[in-house]
Amino acid sequence: MADFAAMMGSVKVIPVLTIADAADAIPLAEALVRGSLPVLEVTFRTAAAQEAIRLIADNVPGAIVGGGTIPQPRHFGDAEKAGARFGVSPGTTAALVEAAKDSSLAYLPAAVTPGEVMTLQDAGYSFQKYFPAAAHGGIFGLNQLAGPIPGVKFCPTGGLDQSNAADYLACQNVFAVGGSWPAPNKLVEAKAWAEIEALAKVASAL
Ligand code: 3PG
Repeated sequence: MADFAAMMGSVKVIPVLTIADAADAIPLAEALVRGSLPVLEVTFRTAAAQEAIRLIADNVPGAIVGGGTIPQPRHFGDAEKAGARFGVSPGTTAALVEAAKDSSLAYLPAAVTPGEVMTLQDAGYSFQKYFPAAAHGGIFGLNQLAGPIPGVKFCPTGGLDQSNAADYLACQNVFAVGGSWPAPNKLVEAKAWAEIEALAKVASAL
């Protein structure tokens, strides 16, 4: 399994993409890379997801594409075959942790309660997704975890946007943030690539 934090490098914002039409994958990824957001999470919430990942991996130099919303172990294989570099899940099951061991992908599993966080820490994950962030106390919830569980860093997603992402990033236990706000579905459907590039530029300056 590859190291998630090492793969992120200095990138602090992960756009969460739900691509309905694979034909949008390349121009969307190109706009985000031009906007200095190269780490892209394509969620397995649409039938087009695997093809979208493949198209980005094969055609967009500079993009680091991963599969998101991974609910089942088989999705690691689907993402890997398509050329993904990482996988993200909205929660964690024992089956996903097992499957991640056999996968070449970097894995970002999710947790929100202290017990979930500690279970993942025991399994070797010091970088975790905090989802759904806003529903679990947001910045307050993250700060509450920082004292008793100092060894874990989070990527909160769910309810973040340009107005609150900087405050999340300022938390001592946050290494990155993610969300759909740099590439909202409405702009993707409208093929508004220049607007998405502009949103990405603003987000990447966080
Ligand atoms: C995710 O999958 O991480 C979230 O659905 C992103 O949530 P957002 O749309 O509130 O940014």
